[in-house]
Amino acid sequence: MKTLISGGTVVTAIDTVRADVLIDDGVVISIGVPGFNDEADNIIDATGKYVIPGGIDPHTHMELPFGGTSASDNFESGTRAAAWGGTTTIVDFAVQVKGESLIDGFDAWMGKADGNCAIDYGFHMIAGDINDQSLADMDELIERGCTSFKLFMAYPGVFYSDDGEILRAMQKAASVGAIIMMHAENGMAIDVLRAQALERGETDPVNHGLTRPALTESEATHRAIVLSELAGAHLYIVHLSAKEALAHVATARDRGLPVFAETCPQYLFLSHEDHLDSEGFEGAKYVCSTPVRMREEGHQDALWTGLATNDLQVISTDHCPFCMDDHPVLGMQKRLGEGDFTAIPNGLPGVEDRYQLIYDGGVIGGHIDLNRWIELCSTAPAKMFGMYPQKGTIAVGSDADIVIFDPDVMWTKSVDQHHMDVDYSAYEGREVQGRVETVLLRGSVIIENNEYVGNKGDGMYLPRDLASVHH
Ligand code: URP
Ligand code: ZN
Ligand code: ZN
Repeated sequence: MKTLISGGTVVTAIDTVRADVLIDDGVVISIGVPGFNDEADNIIDATGKYVIPGGIDPHTHMELPFGGTSASDNFESGTRAAAWGGTTTIVDFAVQVKGESLIDGFDAWMGKADGNCAIDYGFHMIAGDINDQSLADMDELIERGCTSFKLFMAYPGVFYSDDGEILRAMQKAASVGAIIMMHAENGMAIDVLRAQALERGETDPVNHGLTRPALTESEATHRAIVLSELAGAHLYIVHLSAKEALAHVATARDRGLPVFAETCPQYLFLSHEDHLDSEGFEGAKYVCSTPVRMREEGHQDALWTGLATNDLQVISTDHCPFCMDDHPVLGMQKRLGEGDFTAIPNGLPGVEDRYQLIYDGGVIGGHIDLNRWIELCSTAPAKMFGMYPQKGTIAVGSDADIVIFDPDVMWTKSVDQHHMDVDYSAYEGREVQGRVETVLLRGSVIIENNEYVGNKGDGMYLPRDLASVHH
């Protein structure tokens, strides 16, 4: 059955053109001048709308166990919410914990996702126990389409790796062409600052940010870059929020090193002063690591500049939601940390918000152009993580993962209208312009007229190639 998307403006990372898009058997088979084809079985009218590639969110944590609870979106609810927000592929993080094999961790996450996803999904692997076997197992995971490995310089005793372990993993990654993703915060120093704050009786959520100052991110980012240079590995810094860390990435890139970085909407739109430092326990809604930064220090402006100049290549969400109050199944979540900020589970909801927020804040806000919006939210993640050109663009032969986007409609973000399984919106009350209207996953409509019309299990596992970016 052939579907034609007609009358819209096709926007990719390169082009903005009036064109019709013809789809057959899940892929784009031609793109032509408006009216070039009138034989399709099904016509979707996109007049006055943008026709854009489905979003790719390369950083989500569905069902992540963290701090005695688990992220409140499972693969079913989280991927459906992603679809509502125009995202048609996620790359989630499978987890290896200490004492477990990398392969067992990967299989466990495949089991959670299999048959439950509304959109396509791949996995990065969190390597939480670097040893000879883990390094050997990286070969098998790469063959199975997991070509990126996340290490943590934060969270001692949980996911933390020391510098020697990091270097060994980077050497292995360099030898096989895999990419190392780094959570770059000096976890050892942060743990000292956290303990000292608690000793002083400073227990409110705001202390989460105060004990993870920009210097701890900056130092770790620099160290990660040095270790990756030593190993000759590709390095991707996740959830970068501090301007000092960005400066290290920019310097490394200027020297020609294969160093990359993402930021997330929370670091562009939320701040220490306006959100984390809210009255009472409200700030817990905004507890994530790295933390949202001090507005007055100018981090947001620096990040927007980095996005425009390509010192930052990707916008992901780091979607990792926890309910403020009791979740019906998971129980206490953020409130586990009432009276002790160190017990607040780290993470924010965002998988549904990103594509639309970045259009509003980035394009309408005048920081980036339309094509850069697509590049940051779809094309660059596809290239970075070995999914391009199957994903990340609208081109002949690419999967027909397509969003029809109304660029003019105004609406207000709220927990009442979102579909993520979490009892608050990090952007409650924010007026935004532009909204996802229709979403196709491999040619099948899954969001239409503000309704989800797909099926659980439509999403397929996406084995990924090695990265196709070199600088
Ligand atoms: O606060 C965060 N970022 N939670 C998710 C886990 C991680 O470090 O990415
Ligand atoms: Zn992280
Ligand atoms: Zn994360």
